[in-house]
Amino acid sequence: MSHTSAAQRYIVRPAASIRGELTVPGDKSISHRALMLGGIAAGRTLISGFLASEDCLATLAALAALGVRIERPQETLVRVHGVGHEGLTGAAGALDMGNAGTAIRLLMGLLAGQRFDSTLIGDASLMRRPMERVAAPLRAMGARIDTQAGKPPVRIHGGAALHGLDYALPMASAQVKSALLLAALYAQGVTNITEPAPTRDHTERMLRAFGVQLTAAAGRVSLAGGQQLRGCDIEIPGDFSSAAFFIVAGCLAAHDGLTIRGVGVNPTRTGLLQLLALMGADIELRARTEVTAEPIADIHVRAAPLRGIRVPEDLVALAIDEFPVFFIAAAAADGQTVVTGAAELRVKESDRLAAMAIGLTTLGIECELLPDGLRLQGGRMSGGRIDSHGDHRIAMAFAVASLIASAPIEIEDVANVATSFPGFAHLARAAGLALED
Ligand code: S3P
Repeated sequence: MSHTSAAQRYIVRPAASIRGELTVPGDKSISHRALMLGGIAAGRTLISGFLASEDCLATLAALAALGVRIERPQETLVRVHGVGHEGLTGAAGALDMGNAGTAIRLLMGLLAGQRFDSTLIGDASLMRRPMERVAAPLRAMGARIDTQAGKPPVRIHGGAALHGLDYALPMASAQVKSALLLAALYAQGVTNITEPAPTRDHTERMLRAFGVQLTAAAGRVSLAGGQQLRGCDIEIPGDFSSAAFFIVAGCLAAHDGLTIRGVGVNPTRTGLLQLLALMGADIELRARTEVTAEPIADIHVRAAPLRGIRVPEDLVALAIDEFPVFFIAAAAADGQTVVTGAAELRVKESDRLAAMAIGLTTLGIECELLPDGLRLQGGRMSGGRIDSHGDHRIAMAFAVASLIASAPIEIEDVANVATSFPGFAHLARAAGLALED
């Protein structure tokens, strides 16, 4: 039994209940952004509650390779000595972003307007993921970028003069929006972005904390180029997407209640709470407050019978990372659940629609894979052997499924849990899951 998440597989035996109080590690999306904005700000940025996961450490290493001095006096405390608007310098080699889609895409935007060349690569999963969604609008801003048939390696040619752009995103993607906002800082003129549906707005909130002026409303944002960022202190909330595994676990088996403290509850992230409410869940937010422009709360969950739902398509982008574990809640619910309008799930760390459909079918749940979603019937779940497809969120979702399974679930290929949630196995055991790694 290990306390790190570097295990290759989990064996999770059925457990009857989960309980207590826990705190999840810092938010991944916000940790990436704090490092990048701190890196190009003038002066020092102190980040507390940093997520020390593989993905965020890849961003930290990339910024260091680009000439930013970064200290980490404690695991989750990071001091970034910002180099200012024009201060980044070219890296000696390719920047390896590992498994991190957010890191590679946001860095594409940040690096598009620099004077030097850059190359971005990643692990086998990242090398298969689409990058033209960022490269194409950046080219329209004047950037010179090559992808390999739309995928990494991404080669960015330095010295391009960027100009502002009016751009309507073809898909709801905070990564694309954020990449364009970072490029817009280096562009002449104003960049106006509209989204087909509102996506997480951490970049907009944090840019303001660094002193940048922008106008933002649901689904649109405008920013004038040439603005200088000022270093600041950033406190990072607990990651709602990590809390999500325990929220669903609590819905299934917290007969005496479960509390998750200090979780980010930015409304552009908490679509899962709305979905679970529609299913009949018993969830309460307490002690609401704010840290560095982000709302946080303690989330209190009690087990309740769930019913299947048709997921409103306007909630999909607000729950995009939570679908793997949402499908476990749906499998435990009475009746049918249907998700559509979620084709983006096919281009995450794995094809999450396919990975979940295969895993759920293995465990005896009736489900039908749709081009842009999944239809499934709640029912009895057996045990079995699951392939996580190297995807952290698939691995953790099936660990939660052990609360409703009749026999052990063996989950293969779980090392990537460390990309977003170091310590998951330890916390899961402390809350009552019978997880061996
Ligand atoms: C993220 C945005 C989402 C999400 C990812 C993190 C971000 O991706 O799935 O885990 O930090 O901006 P898309 O915006 O591409 O949907």
